[in-house]
Amino acid sequence: MEKKYLTEVKSGVTPQTWWPYQDFGSTRNAGAELKALSGGAKNFDTPKPERLIERILQIATNPGDLVLDSFLGSGTTAAVAQKMGRRFIGIEMGDHAVTHCQPRLSKVVDGEQGGISKAQNWQGGGGFRFYRLGAAVFDETGGLQPDIRFATLAAHIWFSEMAAPWNAPQDLTPFLGASGGRGIALLYNGILGDKSLSGGNVLNLQTLRVIRAAAGDYTGALIVYGERTLLSPATLEAEGLTFKQTPYDVRARK
Ligand SMILES: C[S@@+](CC[C@H](N)C(=O)[O-])C[C@H]1O[C@@H](n2cnc3c(N)ncnc32)[C@H](O)[C@@H]1O
Repeated sequence: MEKKYLTEVKSGVTPQTWWPYQDFGSTRNAGAELKALSGGAKNFDTPKPERLIERILQIATNPGDLVLDSFLGSGTTAAVAQKMGRRFIGIEMGDHAVTHCQPRLSKVVDGEQGGISKAQNWQGGGGFRFYRLGAAVFDETGGLQPDIRFATLAAHIWFSEMAAPWNAPQDLTPFLGASGGRGIALLYNGILGDKSLSGGNVLNLQTLRVIRAAAGDYTGALIVYGERTLLSPATLEAEGLTFKQTPYDVRARK
């Protein structure tokens, strides 16, 4: 026997271990819910009814909590989380991320009335962001991927410095761009056509000229990432340069 005092007991009924389909729905119900949402364009093998996920979230989470479904499937977990005032992260590698999950969640935000909407008095609202994962920047030990492409590393560095996505230009140059009075340059992977240590990945007067030429009108402060620098601290300061060394100064988080 477990002894519980009234002050510790939540109101309501203790969850049972037997969940009958009359209360929580069935695979058939789930299929019908999905059909109503998408016109039945795709069949999922193991769709879950919204009521089932609702019960799981009732037991395991509180409003505002973050719910992760790393195998999102048809998007039921995310849809239910949204309707129950939970935040969510859904991960899906199949095309149905685009063809099903994204439109389904847009409908939820617009106030779709299927599934648990009526039970939750769901009127729509809130929102979500849809991201595509790029190539991995770090390996499992936290080191930079040895074969990382220039554009992938540039996007990561830009984001870690500027906290905003990088708009990659058509033609890549070592100058990544400038924002808020700060420019960023990256000397990496022979972007200048020279992979030798004393060549394109090293900041010296010659590579600085190339960066400045690529920067065009922008003549302000510059953060330069490279393998090493041959410029003296006095030159760096006079030129408004902050040098950061790859890979050591490339961080997963700020
Ligand atoms: C059984 S379904 C998920 C069901 C869903 N969580 C639900 O409760 O209805 C499994 C999904 O995981 C996806 N998946 C499998 N491996 C994955 C991976 N490594 N990364 C992202 N998604 C993955 C599959 O494409 C499939 O849509």
